[in-house]
Amino acid sequence: MTNKIIIENLSLQYSDGAESLRGINMGIRKNAVTVLFGPAGGGKSTLLRCLNRLNDLTDIRASSGRILIDDENILDPKTDVIALRRKVGMVFARPVPLPMSIRENVIYGLELAGEKRKSKLDEAVERSLKLSAIWDEVKDRLNDPAIALSGGQQQRVCLARVIALQPEIILLDEPTSGLDPISTGKVEAALLELKKEYTIILVPHSVQQAARTADYAAFFLQGELIEYDEGKTMFTAPKQKKTEDYIMGRFG
Ligand SMILES: Nc1ncnc2c1ncn2[C@@H]1O[C@H](COP(=O)(O)OP(=O)(O)O)[C@@H](O)[C@H]1O
Ligand SMILES: [Mg+2]
Repeated sequence: MTNKIIIENLSLQYSDGAESLRGINMGIRKNAVTVLFGPAGGGKSTLLRCLNRLNDLTDIRASSGRILIDDENILDPKTDVIALRRKVGMVFARPVPLPMSIRENVIYGLELAGEKRKSKLDEAVERSLKLSAIWDEVKDRLNDPAIALSGGQQQRVCLARVIALQPEIILLDEPTSGLDPISTGKVEAALLELKKEYTIILVPHSVQQAARTADYAAFFLQGELIEYDEGKTMFTAPKQKKTEDYIMGRFG
């Protein structure tokens, strides 16, 4: 197994003084689901936002360290951030469908990038919706407004919108936090399919979801990476007392 991403000594401090990442070192495997879990405020979202430079938009006092993706330090000022964000797609907690049809939602980014060929766009729509485990539910109504779908369906359409751009890495920040258990199951099933082709990094909405989905799991507490291991080891025999306490529900 190879590392798609290598995080080296990454620290980050927001302008208000909150230190949200402290000396993080981790390698993230290709074709696997890596879960970042732990209580609120641990730095999980901050780390995800570093991976596609979304933090460029926030007030940061200081940051240091490196993030290598395919051996290139993406924190380097010379990085082409647009290209990076295409390679590293992100799905957020609340689905934000655009006020247009299901089909148009999926191909929005591709069209922006200049793709005009209908055959290519149709292909992308079908492939992306299939990979997002929603094709069967929407294939007969692709021209209906995405906003009319249920929350769970909207979230999978948002995932399809990311996939249509053919990223290599997909970041998901609590993508099922507002969803019912059935929709949550469908998103989790989609991740199983997606990891065959992509590198997936998921911030789960619960320890249970972390345990169900993690090939690898990283436990974050107050900006520190406390423990990082294979999911099956982490959730059955954690090595650190803090990890065990959190998994057992003793705090959090
Ligand atoms: N935009 C921001 N500006 C200032 N502080 C922030 C910002 N985003 C997060 N933080 C702070 O950084 C720490 C880590 O937050 P976050 O990365 O959101 O953690 P998590 O996703 O694990 O809940 C927290 O103390 C939080 O208050
Ligand atoms: Mg968060």
